[in-house]
Amino acid sequence: MLDIITLIMVAISLLLFGYRPPWCTKKFIDFKFKEVHDIPGPPALPILGTSWLFLVGRYQISKLHEYYKEMRDKYGPIVKEEALFNVPVLSVYSKADLEKVFKSTGKYPMRPPTEAIAKYRRDHPERYASGGLINEQGEKWHYLRTSLTTALTSPKTIQNFLPEVEAIADDWCHLLETKRDPNGRISNLEELAGKLGLEVTCTLVLGRRMGFLIDDQVCPTAQKLSDTVKSNFAACRDTYFGLPFWRWVPTKSYKRLCDSEKAIYELASELIRTADESTRESAVFQSVLKANIDEREKKSAIVDFLAAGIHTLKNSLLFLLYQVALSPESQEKIITDDTNTFSKACSMETFRISPTAHCVARITECDLELSGYHVPAGSVVLCQTALACKNDDYFKEAKKFRPERWLDDEKNETAANATYLVTPFGYGRRICPGKRYIEQILPIFLEKVVKKFKIHVDEPMEEEFEFLLSPKGNVSMYFNNRL
Ligand code: HEM
Repeated sequence: MLDIITLIMVAISLLLFGYRPPWCTKKFIDFKFKEVHDIPGPPALPILGTSWLFLVGRYQISKLHEYYKEMRDKYGPIVKEEALFNVPVLSVYSKADLEKVFKSTGKYPMRPPTEAIAKYRRDHPERYASGGLINEQGEKWHYLRTSLTTALTSPKTIQNFLPEVEAIADDWCHLLETKRDPNGRISNLEELAGKLGLEVTCTLVLGRRMGFLIDDQVCPTAQKLSDTVKSNFAACRDTYFGLPFWRWVPTKSYKRLCDSEKAIYELASELIRTADESTRESAVFQSVLKANIDEREKKSAIVDFLAAGIHTLKNSLLFLLYQVALSPESQEKIITDDTNTFSKACSMETFRISPTAHCVARITECDLELSGYHVPAGSVVLCQTALACKNDDYFKEAKKFRPERWLDDEKNETAANATYLVTPFGYGRRICPGKRYIEQILPIFLEKVVKKFKIHVDEPMEEEFEFLLSPKGNVSMYFNNRL
């Protein structure tokens, strides 16, 4: 008996001092021991996890995209952070891992909810029957999704809407024309793009033109809705990525979130209340009204659609104009192409190198092996698609804006690599229901603008993280008439 105990003690000591018998290959050790806690990542403190990095000012949440790049460069293709109480949050950057995560989702893909919004909505049952389409999971989410988004995703709705889009694009070009200084410079392009985001999203969802693009019309609703949605995104960012003390006490960012949720709800209610005949005929609005769901769900769906569309569209349009402004040769190709093909390629290329949603979050539904680590079901994984898109292993000259890669001979190769990497609208059953619509309309806006104006920029556009990646500060660009 003593001999056996001695033998075991010797074996343990040898293992502790790093001795491995010849049959115990690296592969065997890796297979046996590589678990989530072995995944490299920044140092974590007990309870606080890795959030201390943001508390001591080493990193800023408004530069989260840069932080994730640094993490990848430092730790490799899979990185572990730790949230409060040391809950692991993994980031994956390689195509193989992104594909595994996306492909592994089942009937009800799970995206980590924006907990602070979920709490706010639970605390206001007079307005909300649930967390809504964006935050719900499982069967409840599936029921809302099928009840609420059929018209939004239907090609027929989009087709019927295109003449309206053309008219909106003309009005926006007119607005740009009037807002230029004598040199053709517009220094508050963000504000004008915000008005376009509002007009387009409201027209789609509410079925009527709102008049947000009419020059010099004082439009307090437009400005307030735009400011409120922006503030809502920033509050979501701070409650989502900051320490979650808001669960117990109403912190500044949680109060900001509550105020903005309340304001968006009231502004949307006002828009719905003043609905005219065309709103009542709108396919999207009608499909929501007719849905077999709690009445409260209907209004909150309209609120969510408006909030989800306005800011994302504004940012995407600004990024697109910026990339094209830097590329006079792309502008020439847009002008000479009557098929809209080159503008579509510009739009896809901007989604590849400058998406407003830089990563897609999922909760894994089954055990996965990611970069050689065993990751159990129920893990939070951030699919870092925007950074993967800038990796030369997956795209030739990956950091370069080259719309041509989406055309002709290169098209198939790009598309094959893009499936799990170029995901500006997310992936799978949980994908953005506005995707098809946005993909159709952005090239229309681009073409209208470029055919009317030569655009250029003379200062770099910085990005900041506001839950979405957004241009930082005022965006200024030149719009000079084409002769
Ligand atoms: C450029 C514009 C837009 C971008 C970049 C964008 C991006 C996204 C992304 C990345 C997601 C997460 C998808 C996932 O987890 O797989 C999402 C979800 C969503 N988006 Fe969009 N979106 C845009 C416009 C719109 C518009 C116009 C609407 C509605 C009118 C909309 C409504 C929604 C809704 C309701 C969800 C939640 C879907 C669900 O969980 O089932 N989005 N969007």
